[in-house]
Amino acid sequence: MADGEAIVAEGLTRRFGDRYALRGIDLRVPTGSVLGLLGPNGAGKTTTVRILSTLLRADEGRATVAGRDVHDEPAAVRARIGLSGQYAAADERLTARENLYLVSRLYGMSRKTARRHATELLERFALTEAADRTSGGFSGGMRRRLDLAGALVSRPTVVFLDEPTTGLDPRGRADTWRAVEELVADGTTVLLTTQYLEEADHLADSIAVIDHGTVIAHGTASELKAAVGGERITITPIDQAARASVAEALTDLGHHQPDIDSRTGTVTVVTDRGAGALRQALEALAAVRIEVRDVALAPPTLDDVFLALTGNSQRPAAESAPPPAVAAPEDGSERSVQPGNGQLVRARGRRRKGAHAWRP
Ligand SMILES: Nc1ncnc2c1ncn2[C@@H]1O[C@H](COP(=O)(O)OP(=O)(O)O)[C@@H](O)[C@H]1O
Ligand SMILES: [Mg+2]
Repeated sequence: MADGEAIVAEGLTRRFGDRYALRGIDLRVPTGSVLGLLGPNGAGKTTTVRILSTLLRADEGRATVAGRDVHDEPAAVRARIGLSGQYAAADERLTARENLYLVSRLYGMSRKTARRHATELLERFALTEAADRTSGGFSGGMRRRLDLAGALVSRPTVVFLDEPTTGLDPRGRADTWRAVEELVADGTTVLLTTQYLEEADHLADSIAVIDHGTVIAHGTASELKAAVGGERITITPIDQAARASVAEALTDLGHHQPDIDSRTGTVTVVTDRGAGALRQALEALAAVRIEVRDVALAPPTLDDVFLALTGNSQRPAAESAPPPAVAAPEDGSERSVQPGNGQLVRARGRRRKGAHAWRP
């Protein structure tokens, strides 16, 4: 392996029938770092994780994880990784402690070691109080934490987390983020998939944006943010006819012209001045006597990322037409993050969900 790289993937391609799920994925994850694989539903995130964790074979391309080839040495890879799938894998009839004890025993630990190990993990993931309740009654966030704890039983050097917070409420998400941070703190390499830019920003050292089975951009969170811009201030005036005046009043707040959505009657401006810009916006509107019905400040979303990267915010619709024969741009398909990139050829993907949970 290239020393210092815990995950290397080159040209991973995978078809299901005549559909391409992956069209040549390249990834490099330095040891001890966190890669966020960011993309919409159907982009190929889970397929990538399944290949890297030896659950699925690539049609083409190669990958090493913890220095072992996923195709030639799957058992060696499995011995070094942890995986928390898109759907939590704990046994709902067992308590949190029993779940972790069971997995520890499956990994060949003695009863005593397994008991101690389970106790340590429960503590580390803030589950001590709930340790002896059956996990079926857990909140989404607690289940996720239990699942993460389970993925760490074998003390893996590389951990895959597939959409660790999808479906969680804000509290569950915050708790899960803390758990992931814990994990990273002791040097574990993490590849996590997410549909949330904010999450990738918060947890990942670098981000690969994937869509239709190719990496369309990669960089650090701040590089990506520079392309996508800061927060969005969205203003809805009481008088819809005042939209143009609102846009004019807000022009100075952002680098670009405010965007007017004639359908919703809102005006959006991208700013990197944070909450202070919100006050400025309201003052500017008051100065020209525009009354506001609604005002919001929000971080960029995945849609904003796609808009910035591809000039097209339209993400693929579920169950739509098959992809064209050549969907990836011919120029190598991956671009460094730059604002104002031109249009990418956008294929259409099909959504599918399945169970990807895995336990040794
Ligand atoms: N087992 C499978 N059989 C057929 N198609 C699949 C299978 N797994 C994934 N796909 C297809 O591959 C594409 C990528 O899926 P997936 O990797 O699950 O995306 P993501 O995890 O980013 O939502 C989708 O179009 C999906 O329908
Ligand atoms: Mg998935």
